[in-house]
Amino acid sequence: MTASSPHSPAALLARDLRHGFAGSDVLHGVSLEVRSGEVVAVTGPSGSGKSTLLHLLGGLDTPQSGEVWWAGERVDTLSTQARAGRRAGRVGLVFQHHYLLEDLTVAQNVQVPALLAGQDGAARAHDLLARVGLAERGRDLPGVLSGGERQRVAVARALATRPAVVLADEPTGSLDRANAERVAALLLDLARQEGAGVLLVTHDDRVAARADRALHLLDGRIGEAVGL
Ligand SMILES: Nc1ncnc2c1ncn2[C@@H]1O[C@H](COP(=O)(O)OP(=O)(O)O)[C@@H](O)[C@H]1O
Ligand SMILES: [Mg+2]
Repeated sequence: MTASSPHSPAALLARDLRHGFAGSDVLHGVSLEVRSGEVVAVTGPSGSGKSTLLHLLGGLDTPQSGEVWWAGERVDTLSTQARAGRRAGRVGLVFQHHYLLEDLTVAQNVQVPALLAGQDGAARAHDLLARVGLAERGRDLPGVLSGGERQRVAVARALATRPAVVLADEPTGSLDRANAERVAALLLDLARQEGAGVLLVTHDDRVAARADRALHLLDGRIGEAVGL
């Protein structure tokens, strides 16, 4: 499913990414493309490099070789600071542990990426909280929310700036089955409605089955997953 024409640049493009750490090569040439409005799942065994890949795609780390492009702009060659500036507003991140700021209210947490991108974001935060079913919780501190509610706040926050790219690293990994399905459905529905390209790391086959395509990372290489 794509919301863009085949000729517009991919929301996210990786070419031949190679990366490793002292003593271990993790990625041996990973290429992938996510189009606007498309949801792609990435599965793979623990330690196969899924988080490493997501960090490279999100510009949180620089690949040893290869290219990363966001909406037609190459970003792996930028300085860390320049890339952080590009990321603000263009890339939304959701992690397994949602890293909410405990001293800010729920609404302020959702607003933070917009403020960092130089937008106000208050009305958008309000709208997103309503869409994840937390309209009444904006003034609460995160500490009083359940795990599933906190993850829904993290999903809203990732979409605060209407990013072209959403990267999610096992966003439902700490939730029970019912909440995991609910949060995954919310993330995917919202991102599709907004035309974001989504890359979602998951080891949950039911979550992966909700994606338009599933890729499997094994031995540092990526292939189309079968059987989903
Ligand atoms: N910052 C790091 N320093 C050294 N080794 C790392 C670092 N991050 C990940 N690794 C190693 O890279 C491999 C892949 O890790 P990771 O990307 O976290 O896998 P996954 O998310 O698929 O479980 C593992 O062997 C891990 O120990
Ligand atoms: Mg991981």
